[in-house]
Amino acid sequence: MASMSGKEKSVEIQPELILNIHYGAARSKILQTAVELGIFTHINEGQTSVEKISRVLGSNHRAIRIFLDALVGMGVLAKARGAYKLTAESKQFLVRGESQYLGQFLTGTGIAQDGWQHLTHAVKKGRQISEFAEVGHRTTFFKELVKGIFPTSFASGVILGKKLGVGKTLKAQKILDLGCGAAPWSIAMAMADQASKVVAVDFPEILEIAQAHVKRFHVNRQFEWRPGDFHEVKFEKGTYDLVILGHILHGEGELPSKKLIKRAHECLKPGGKLLIAEFIANDLKSGPELPFLFAINMLLYTDGGDVFTTKDLKRWLGLCGFKKTSALAVQYPVTVMVGTK
Ligand SMILES: C[S@@+](CC[C@H](N)C(=O)[O-])C[C@H]1O[C@@H](n2cnc3c(N)ncnc32)[C@H](O)[C@@H]1O
Repeated sequence: MASMSGKEKSVEIQPELILNIHYGAARSKILQTAVELGIFTHINEGQTSVEKISRVLGSNHRAIRIFLDALVGMGVLAKARGAYKLTAESKQFLVRGESQYLGQFLTGTGIAQDGWQHLTHAVKKGRQISEFAEVGHRTTFFKELVKGIFPTSFASGVILGKKLGVGKTLKAQKILDLGCGAAPWSIAMAMADQASKVVAVDFPEILEIAQAHVKRFHVNRQFEWRPGDFHEVKFEKGTYDLVILGHILHGEGELPSKKLIKRAHECLKPGGKLLIAEFIANDLKSGPELPFLFAINMLLYTDGGDVFTTKDLKRWLGLCGFKKTSALAVQYPVTVMVGTK
């Protein structure tokens, strides 16, 4: 067969992939703006037409029609006979006040953050944006982040608790939550097992946020607070049933992660479990896409952070003395690696 001419090739190969990637930034911005304007919340409250939403927002029909149709095109709204409706996903994750509301995460910590402007520099220089190395900047970032990711981590914690049998086969657990953030994982465990006790570790400013969440879920009497750096704070050896590392290792990189896993091993009782929640890449490091997009955050904001594979984590757990390992799927896109001492 004669080889394809340059002209034929250019017709057969379409630029769909490239253009779709290019418009990814537009999607992210449109979704953030919709959340900021409370579009999904207004529709949930019955403002389902262009006229009604224009009135609520004090805007004009053209702007609102163009904007709502973009959300339909993106698949986060549906439209029938001129009325706009929520989809299953927008109803669950984008309506203000819903328990799994992602709005704070999308507006406070989305991809359109300032740091992404510096990506070329970070790739060429091979290191993080310098201002993010400052402790003050990092704490400000984490204060926003931990509130934003609470709903998804909490939902994952509830699923994980059920899969592990917390409150059923695992009762009166002593739990250590390292880098607890707003404490989503340990609050879920404490609610499932009311006889459990949690020791929560993070920087003092972040523990204040955790304390507010713990009160909101009425589990404060089960919590003890240990402010400080999780690499340095002293822990009781051989006493814990569960140690949680929720979205911690990617920010640390390989060596510090191994040290933390070793510390966790020392704290656990025989038979105790280390729970590592991460966005995990396949063992060939060829997919899925999301962990790799997330790894760019690590390039921009950390000096050694990365995403890892199940194989990496299993090997590290084995090296640190864990006898058994398994992987549990929780809420998309998170996997929890379980290491049993
Ligand atoms: C990505 S957030 C995860 C929060 C929570 N575990 C979750 O899954 O939602 C990382 C948390 O680790 C905390 N952290 C980072 N480095 C730390 C360190 N060296 N010592 C104590 N906490 C740390 C941050 O303050 C932040 O709360």
